[in-house]
Formats: sequence, C-alpha cells, structure tokens
Amino acid sequence: MDTAELSALLSSLPLSAVRHLPTVTSTNDVAREWLAAGAPDLALIAADEQTAGRGQRGRTWHSPASTCIAFSLVLRGKLDSNPALISRITALGALAVCDALAAMNLSAQIKWPNDVLLDKRKVAGVLAEGSWAGDRLEGIVLGIGVNVHASSVDGAMAKEGTLRFPAVSLAEIAGFTPDRWAILEAIVRRLIHWRTQLYQPIFLETWNNVLAFRGEPVQVVEETAEDSKPVVFEGILAGLAEDGALKLRTPTGEELIFHAGDVRLLPHTAASSLPGRADG
Ligand code: BTN
Repeated sequence: MDTAELSALLSSLPLSAVRHLPTVTSTNDVAREWLAAGAPDLALIAADEQTAGRGQRGRTWHSPASTCIAFSLVLRGKLDSNPALISRITALGALAVCDALAAMNLSAQIKWPNDVLLDKRKVAGVLAEGSWAGDRLEGIVLGIGVNVHASSVDGAMAKEGTLRFPAVSLAEIAGFTPDRWAILEAIVRRLIHWRTQLYQPIFLETWNNVLAFRGEPVQVVEETAEDSKPVVFEGILAGLAEDGALKLRTPTGEELIFHAGDVRLLPHTAASSLPGRADG
C-alpha cells in the first residue's frame, strides 16, 4: 500500500486528504502535527506500522508491521468545546468499527468508553485527542487501531504495563484473515455517516444498544494517584446518560454517573482483584 493506492481505495469517500506512511511513531502524533500545520477537516493518515502507538491513559498500543489497522482522522468544523464532545467522538469511532464489523456478520460491542470487543475480548481501540489554542478547540484527532491478523495480538499483550484487556484479532474470530484496507474503508465510511448523526437521538440509542455489559454487574474504578488505593464502585451497568456518561445502579438503588477519563470499567467477576488486573 502507498498513498496513491490508499487514495484510490478511499476515492468514493469525501476525505480532504489521504496519506499513507509505512512506519510512523503514532498516526495520532502525525495527525496532530498535520492539524497544527493546517490539515483540513477529514484529512486521513494511515500507517502500516507504529513504533510508539498510544492508547488511553498513556498506555502503549502495539501495531506490528502489516498485521493491523492504524489510522487517524482530523476532525474540524463546528466543534463545541464541551468536554463531553471528546467522549462522543470516541464513541463515533467505536460505533464506526462496530458497524463495519457487523457488515462481516461479527457482532461487536463497545466497552465504554473506547474499546471495541468481540466475544468480550478487545479487538479495537479508539483514541480521540483535542487540539487546543488557548480555550478554543481547533480540532480533534480521532485515532483507531484494529487487530486484524492473529499476529497483531501477541505484541498487544506482551509487556507488563501495556494494554492487557484480553485481546483478540479479527482473524481469530472470523476464521480467516480479512483484508485490512477494505475494513479501514468500511470504518471510515461508517464514521462519516455517523458524524452526521452525532447529536441525534439515534446516535445515543445505537451506542446504548452495543454497550458491552449493559444490565450486568460491573466495577467502575476511579483513577487515583499511582500510589493510592483505587476507589471501586460496584453495581449494574444501567446504560448511557444523555451526554454519553455511564450510569451505574448501585446495590442500594442509587444511580451514579461517571464521565470518561475519570474512570475505567471492568466486568465484575468473582476473581476480581485490584489493582493490576487486566484492563483496557
Ligand atoms: C486504547 O485502546 O486505549 C486506544 C488505542 C488507540 C490506538 C490507535 S492506533 C491509531 C492511533 N494512533 C495511536 O497512537 N493510537 C491510535
């Protein structure tokens, strides 16, 4: 794949610019620089390999050469600077992945806020990062990574301190190795569609419908300083609030609301032990 081939593959989509690089540190970093240099809305950068791919909360995202999808899209336009926007954009990416996989008869779910799961294992992740000029939001870089080949997963689980939520590849679930670039095209197509619906009730409804662990017991872990004990809330995952925050019904019937960035979500199992268990 090169830039000309990728541009041809994506030519039916209203992208403003397309770039392909064989190896980058992180497509989000390249897109952020591009945004700062004036990249227009819907400029896309994809790479074959990332040497310093990033996940949420500063974690490493492994993207071994020729095994996965790694791309970032620059979003500009009328962006309100409401902090909930970033989590909605994260959901936009996750929903686009779910939709693209649904077209392959794979039933994916979103582990709030940013993981895409197949069979409760992580197949894709989304990292949306705002770029600010003072208190004005100049744009958002929306990065998406998908494990496609079976060999993309080993790296993702290899090192202590990296993403350790049980990972899976599309190849393992589908039983064959799908074409990475065709899936990238399908994701971007769905993303552009869902962006037009970002503030419509159908967006929240669809997001709610693919929410992993809805109606099931979960733990919500509040981020704390590294050396202090995490604060853990337990309850039933009740779905999404109007702004995309997470609703948890506690055993006493109280409804707690959590915002992305403050917490991480874990399925509740009898074997749960904190800290240090697998997470996304
Ligand atoms: C997560 O699961 O925590 C988010 C993972 C996001 C990975 C993608 S791959 C393309 C883009 N570039 C990065 O460095 N990260 C995102």
